[in-house]
Amino acid sequence: MTKAIKTIRKHAGEETIEAALILGSGLSDIGDLLADKVTIPFEELKGFPSGGVSGHGKDLIVGMLGGKRIAVLTGRQHYYEHGNAAAMRPALEAMAELGAKTLMLTNSAGSLDPEVRPGDLMLLSDHINYAGMNPLIGEESDARFVNMVDAYDPGLRAKTHEIGARMDIGLKDGVYLWYSGPSFETPAEIQMAIRLGANAVGMSTAPEVILGRFLGLKVWACSSITNMGAGLMKGEEISHTQTKQMAKLGAEKLKRLIPALVEEI
Ligand code: HPA
Repeated sequence: MTKAIKTIRKHAGEETIEAALILGSGLSDIGDLLADKVTIPFEELKGFPSGGVSGHGKDLIVGMLGGKRIAVLTGRQHYYEHGNAAAMRPALEAMAELGAKTLMLTNSAGSLDPEVRPGDLMLLSDHINYAGMNPLIGEESDARFVNMVDAYDPGLRAKTHEIGARMDIGLKDGVYLWYSGPSFETPAEIQMAIRLGANAVGMSTAPEVILGRFLGLKVWACSSITNMGAGLMKGEEISHTQTKQMAKLGAEKLKRLIPALVEEI
C-alpha cells in the first residue's frame, strides 16, 4: 500500500469509493457538492498533483454525491507544467486502489464547433493525441498496449445524454484534440485541428483517459467551453483569465449533471 493510500484511509476511512472525479480550470468548486466530506490537501499525498495552476484546487475530497462515495481531485497536473505526460498516474492508481471503477474528467476547452459556444458543455466522444506524448511510455508490461476504441464509455455517454435532455442542458458530442499548451493555439493550428476532425481543443484530459483505460476504469469526460478556438470569433481575446471566468457558466451545468450521472453509474 502506498503512503498516499494510507493517508487517505487514515483521514477518510476504509470504505471503498465508486468513482473519481477530476475538476478542470475554474471548475474546482464542484467539489463543494459532496456531503459528509473529508478534505486532504494534495501536499499531504505523495505523488498527487504538485505545484498548481491558478483556477485549480489543490485538494482531494472524499465524500458522498448522488448516493455514492466518490473522490474528487479539485485540480490536476498538466503535461505543460513539467513535461511529464504521466504526472497523474500515481493519483489515478490511488483512485483505482481505493476501489474506483469509473473515472470522470472535466476540463475547460476551446470549441471548434460553431454550434457549441462559450458557457456550453461538450460531451467528449473521442480524442486526438496531438501533443504526441503518451503517459505509458516507459511502462514495461503488455498492459501498455491499451485499446482506445470506445475509451469514452458509450454507456455513460448515453446516460449523460438522457440526463441532459431531462434537465434541458444542451450537450453535443465532440472529439477533443490535446495540444500541450501552455501557449494557446495559433489560428492556423485551430484551422488544422478542424481539418483533422476535432471539435474542441485543450491542454489536459487525453493522458488521463489513456491512464484510466490502462487501469481498467470506465472513463467519462466533459468539456466546459470557455471560448471559441483562436481566430474563430471576431474580437475574442483568449486568456487564462477568460477561461477561469467563463468556466463558471459550465460549472453550474456540471453541478446539476454530475450528481445525476453519479447516481446512475
Ligand atoms: N485552447 C486550449 N486550451 C483551452 C482553451 C483553448 O482555446 N480554452 C480553455 N482551455
